[in-house]
Amino acid sequence: MKVTVCRKSHFNAAHRLCNDAWDDSKNENVFGACNNPNYHGHNYDLVVKLTGEVDPDTGYVFDMKKLKDIIKHYVIKRYDHKNLNLDVDDFKNVNPTAENIAVSIWNILRSQIDSRFSIQVILYETERNFVEYSGE
Ligand code: NI
Repeated sequence: MKVTVCRKSHFNAAHRLCNDAWDDSKNENVFGACNNPNYHGHNYDLVVKLTGEVDPDTGYVFDMKKLKDIIKHYVIKRYDHKNLNLDVDDFKNVNPTAENIAVSIWNILRSQIDSRFSIQVILYETERNFVEYSGE
């Protein structure tokens, strides 16, 4: 009997989307406001989903306090109030798009959570734009 448990979190971060191989006008055309040279911020909402068997002893799939602490310690502390381009190694050579941030978060969580649980990350960059990644 598999059930999915979900935890919502939030962080604020700045970024700039840019491809150094392109000139300024192409970058501006492709990335629009997210190409602003002096960076800009987003209020990111993060939903982490874990799917696994319900433990008959506890009735839990996963201890939500532990999930909360893992997300806080390994993800939120890493990204919150940071300039993703300058402050976070994950994006030294990778454009900090919502897609790439979601993949980074998934990889971090995958290294912390037992492999018997499947993990899905949903990252909202705005209220209306969000991405999903589940390791495939
Ligand atoms: Ni942006």
